[in-house]
Amino acid sequence: MSEQHKSTTHFGYKTVDATEKEQMVAGVFHSVAAKYDVMNDLMSFGIHRLWKRFTIDCSGIRKGQKVLDLAGGTGDLTAKFSRIVGETGQVVLADINDSMLKVGRDKLRNKGLGSNIAYVQANAEALPFPDNHFDLITIAFGLRNVTDKDKALASMQRVLKPGGRLLVLEFSRPQHEIMSKLYDFYSFNILPKMGAMVAQDSESYRYLAESIRMHPDQETLKSMMEQAGLEQVEYFNLTDGVVALHRGFKF
Ligand SMILES: C[S@@+](CC[C@H](N)C(=O)[O-])C[C@H]1O[C@@H](n2cnc3c(N)ncnc32)[C@H](O)[C@@H]1O
Repeated sequence: MSEQHKSTTHFGYKTVDATEKEQMVAGVFHSVAAKYDVMNDLMSFGIHRLWKRFTIDCSGIRKGQKVLDLAGGTGDLTAKFSRIVGETGQVVLADINDSMLKVGRDKLRNKGLGSNIAYVQANAEALPFPDNHFDLITIAFGLRNVTDKDKALASMQRVLKPGGRLLVLEFSRPQHEIMSKLYDFYSFNILPKMGAMVAQDSESYRYLAESIRMHPDQETLKSMMEQAGLEQVEYFNLTDGVVALHRGFKF
């Protein structure tokens, strides 16, 4: 059943009314926005930079093209794409949360970037862009927070140009038992403590660990992308599948 017809959904391990999740996710990201970048580096030991580098390498993006960095938050991918597409291209950094957008806009302006970047507050489920508009859409660590993922994937497919590609970078399932055990221990014992110490917010980091466990695994997400009309969908496991990059095309 499409998520859009369900009246309940998950917020981490909690079952909540589907209409409530958006507000609860908003609460998490308003709370973590100011410390988001420093926590990302700490929690992943900087490895998120390699996952994002791999995403750029798989993007096929060129000068003059249009990119949507959806759920783009503090704009790590936007910064890289802005340099690649140059003055004749455009990057739209879209996010539902104005606190995350504000941190992102300030950071990118401080890096001297901006003339080819547009900031748009938008829900991934209902993108406010024309059909067939973007050469590339990325959504990094965003999809698991979206209430109706099927609707969001269909919306992304709609705004992609024919020939365009969608890249979904997201936490996924470790492929080996030993990695799975280590990762569980780290996520449920160390991560919330780091959140409490550095961001004074253990709850948001507990949500992070739980929401990762509730997110569809590699094969399920691949099927969801195909259902949304994307073609030649494949995925690449990174760090043993702790993270996966899914790639699909619109033809
Ligand atoms: C974990 S952050 C990822 C930020 C950035 N992409 C990165 O990789 O560092 C998740 C982002 O998804 C955004 N988000 C959550 N639900 C969303 C939705 N329905 N539509 C658009 N953005 C959403 C949050 O506001 C947050 O900025």
